[in-house]
Amino acid sequence: MSTNDQPAAPAKPVLAQPAAPGKPAAPSDQTAIIAKRWRAKRGSLIMALHEVQETYGYVPRDVALKLAPQIGVPVARIYEVLTFYNYFKTSAPGKFVVSVCTGTACHLKGSGDILANFSAQLGCKEGESTTDKLWHLQGVRCIGCCGIAPAVIVNGKVFGKLKPADVGDVIDKVLTADAAAAKV
Ligand code: FES
Repeated sequence: MSTNDQPAAPAKPVLAQPAAPGKPAAPSDQTAIIAKRWRAKRGSLIMALHEVQETYGYVPRDVALKLAPQIGVPVARIYEVLTFYNYFKTSAPGKFVVSVCTGTACHLKGSGDILANFSAQLGCKEGESTTDKLWHLQGVRCIGCCGIAPAVIVNGKVFGKLKPADVGDVIDKVLTADAAAAKV
């Protein structure tokens, strides 16, 4: 992050907000984005579930419940698919799943350095979890937030316009939010 002696502060990382009722999906509403992309296509359920797992590192139950009506498939059918294919995970590979977008827009804006910084600060490689299973780090394809590239999702929260130096801030924000939630 910048220091006060610099003439102009760089843009702060953006935390995307959920869409208001009746408004188009905000970048953070990943389920709506995924449903919209796949609902009209044949064989779309498996592809949608692939994308959910790529985004979150697994298929969270609340996302499966939200996805079902949006894609026009019964929840039971989703769980038939999830349990049939070993590839799909229904539990998180880490308490916090960090998904760094490596799609074209994010790649051009330096997502490689952001991924490298997460790897260095968390102490685990891309595609792996920390030994305490607190963090899981993965690179993912476009997450539909190209307007705020480079973007990262941590447990469904989108952080955008990141610089490599913002990685420590993102980690701190995730831990602070988790500690605050634990007190409630
Ligand atoms: S390429 Fe990263 S959000 Fe689209």
